[in-house]
Amino acid sequence: MRARLLDGLLSGALLVLLAASLGALVAPAGSADAGSAAEDAALRAAYRRPAEPPPAPADNPTTAARAQLGRRLFFDPSLSSTGAMSCSSCHQPAHGFSDGLPLARGAGGKALRRRSPTIWNLAWAPFLFWDGRAEGLEAQAAAPIEAHEEMGQPLEALIARMGGDPAWRAAFAAAFPGAGPAVTKDNLVRALAAWERTLVSPRTRFDAWVEGDDAALSPAERRGLSVFNGPAGCATCHEGWAFTDHAFYDIGLPLRPGAPPDLGRGPVLGEARADHAFKTPTLREAMRRAPYMHDGSLPTIEAVLDHYAGGVVDRPTLAPELPRRLALDARQRADLVAFLDTLTSAPDAALPEMATPPAAPAPPPGLAPVARARVSQRNRQFAPLRVALVPGGTLEIVNDDTTAHNIRIDSPDLQRNSGIQDPGQTVSWRIPTAGRYVAFCGIHPKMRLEVTVAAP
Ligand code: HEC
Ligand code: HEC
Repeated sequence: MRARLLDGLLSGALLVLLAASLGALVAPAGSADAGSAAEDAALRAAYRRPAEPPPAPADNPTTAARAQLGRRLFFDPSLSSTGAMSCSSCHQPAHGFSDGLPLARGAGGKALRRRSPTIWNLAWAPFLFWDGRAEGLEAQAAAPIEAHEEMGQPLEALIARMGGDPAWRAAFAAAFPGAGPAVTKDNLVRALAAWERTLVSPRTRFDAWVEGDDAALSPAERRGLSVFNGPAGCATCHEGWAFTDHAFYDIGLPLRPGAPPDLGRGPVLGEARADHAFKTPTLREAMRRAPYMHDGSLPTIEAVLDHYAGGVVDRPTLAPELPRRLALDARQRADLVAFLDTLTSAPDAALPEMATPPAAPAPPPGLAPVARARVSQRNRQFAPLRVALVPGGTLEIVNDDTTAHNIRIDSPDLQRNSGIQDPGQTVSWRIPTAGRYVAFCGIHPKMRLEVTVAAP
């Protein structure tokens, strides 16, 4: 087992698999003092920070001028109807880009339906909002400015006002050089998204440990890492260096008494099986972000552990990935909290230097189109990741995984939706139209399959 895992490490492509298999390597909690060398090596590979953020979209490359404009817009209260509220009122750097409140409060002081989520590490997020209803940062950014109960500012009026202001005109022109007026709704949204793409959470002691400094973690913190990956099962969903898989799960939070039920991902997908599912948040900078969860219902990190170990409401939509009847003893809890603390930067840490995402890569060389392509979904990954079909060819996606998926293609000239696809089921789609499409899972949207349909 160890030899196989280490091979996986070398190939570097099996991190998800690895994270899922680490439990097998971890000594039973309680006896886990310092980890073995093999366990350390496997964990270090699973948690290495990427060298750079993923590429920005081709139509919104992250330039310094663009990100600076976005930053200025983000902190500027004149974007709100009252002139008193900026994006940063609810996404405060000192609170890990949340706001310390159970539910966000809009321009009128009224409580919103959900808590302000962190905006760290969203360059990697395929879908935004707790329920994933916006695809990409550009699609998300206009919503809070216009939302009546958030900033309450019609964008047309805002754009007209900024367009009349020479300082804004100059800043937009620097960020969006070229012909035509630069102060537009699209450019405002692009600038905000470009800045958000640079928000990569700062390095912490945990990263020093990952890079080989054994002394960077105390024995309790190191044991907590093993509990996180082993008996507590947290790493199944809070996976990789940012501690999220960007997927949607029902983790069994009780419904908020007296409030209309918030069903999360289910209504967005039109699938009742995804009811109560919300997005896995990054655990980076989490210690600054209490209270926790989409509804702000858990006031402290200890309350979060009480929830996972003993508070989970059993219902049909509960994620199969969630450990059932998890029990954690006092030492495991203390070690877990100590470990989670190492993912948050020091209290006086400044915002990190901006990370500049690379430009979009050149498309990979074409594949030879085939009449029928069969794709696996084992371990919440498509394999292969790209297929090419002849027009009229058949795409066959097998659920050979242990969890349900919801495969979709959502492009203007081609829509497909598998509905809930349980383990053992196969979808088979004939694709008549030439073009390039992306198939993704509505529940685990990091799963992305590139489908090219072209004549041979
Ligand atoms: C009144 C408080 C408030 C203001 C002001 C506000 N937000 Fe938010 N923001 C929220 C809440 C609440 C959510 C979650 C809403 C949901 O999931 O339905 C959210 C979600 C987001 C997300 C998605 C995060 C994720 O993990 O998916 C981003 C990005 C974001 N806001 C950026 C912005 C930007 C940019 C602005 C300014 C233009 C802004 N917000 C203004 C409260 C606010
Ligand atoms: C089945 C996937 C899954 C597992 C396993 C899991 N989580 Fe989560 N976690 C989530 C999701 C989804 C949310 C957001 C849920 C919501 O708000 O409704 C979340 C939220 C959190 C939050 C709150 C973050 C915030 O910003 O509000 C913390 C802290 C957390 N989890 C820690 C843990 C720990 C510690 C474990 C192991 C004991 C764990 N999680 C296991 C999926 C998971």
